[in-house]
Amino acid sequence: MKIIECKDMVKSFGHPPVTILKSLNFSVDEGEFLSVTGRSGSGKSTLLYTVSGLDPLTSGSVYVLGEEVHRMPSRETHEFRNQKIGFVFQFHYLLPELTAFENILMPARKIKMEKQKASYAVELMHEFEIEKCKDKTPAQMSGGELQRTSIARSLIMEPRILFADEPTGNLDSENGERVMHIFEKINKNFSTTIIMVTHEPDFAKRARRTIHLTDGVIESDVVNISSKRKK
Ligand SMILES: Nc1ncnc2c1ncn2[C@@H]1O[C@H](COP(=O)(O)OP(=O)(O)O)[C@@H](O)[C@H]1O
Ligand SMILES: [Mg+2]
Repeated sequence: MKIIECKDMVKSFGHPPVTILKSLNFSVDEGEFLSVTGRSGSGKSTLLYTVSGLDPLTSGSVYVLGEEVHRMPSRETHEFRNQKIGFVFQFHYLLPELTAFENILMPARKIKMEKQKASYAVELMHEFEIEKCKDKTPAQMSGGELQRTSIARSLIMEPRILFADEPTGNLDSENGERVMHIFEKINKNFSTTIIMVTHEPDFAKRARRTIHLTDGVIESDVVNISSKRKK
């Protein structure tokens, strides 16, 4: 099943408009692990934010889980994203006044599901080895712990799709490796579809498939042999 389908997706900014994504056509299968590469400024982040409905579309159409996200009323889009989609960024964007545990539960709290999700939050903290951060605020945590906490937050609602924008960009190689390992595991165990922007070629190749952007155009779309061999 196609979980994402983009047809002639165009994204422009400003007046007069500058076109950043130039009529992209691609789809993503359910359970796929896709990496997106390209030079700085090629449109990778714009692609993630446009596909996920965080940013409006200029023209074309985008279907996520069969829904035209950009045509939904904004309240519905929020709900849809909160429950079906997880986001991880290069910077953690955790709330500074909340503990790791409270941050992880934030998406659940928004829809009053904190209680139902508390044990899953504990499970995720155990899985990602951040139990000892449970009652710590972001200022008391290391870079790797912050990033694993934000991944736990992105997974608390058990999303069908995880979007990650340079999730290892701010980490040393050991912590970057831990994040990659977590992504591979969730993709394998829960068949969560993952779309990950990265400029690290070794990480990009670990996804099953890689889309390479050049100036807002898909220059290549390939299946990575090495990722297939590993499975
Ligand atoms: N909100 C915005 N307003 C205007 N231009 C933008 C905006 N966001 C991104 N851009 C422009 O779009 C281009 C692609 O940016 P981006 O998607 O962030 O690239 P990448 O993530 O590949 O580095 C850049 O030229 C950037 O300046
Ligand atoms: Mg970017």
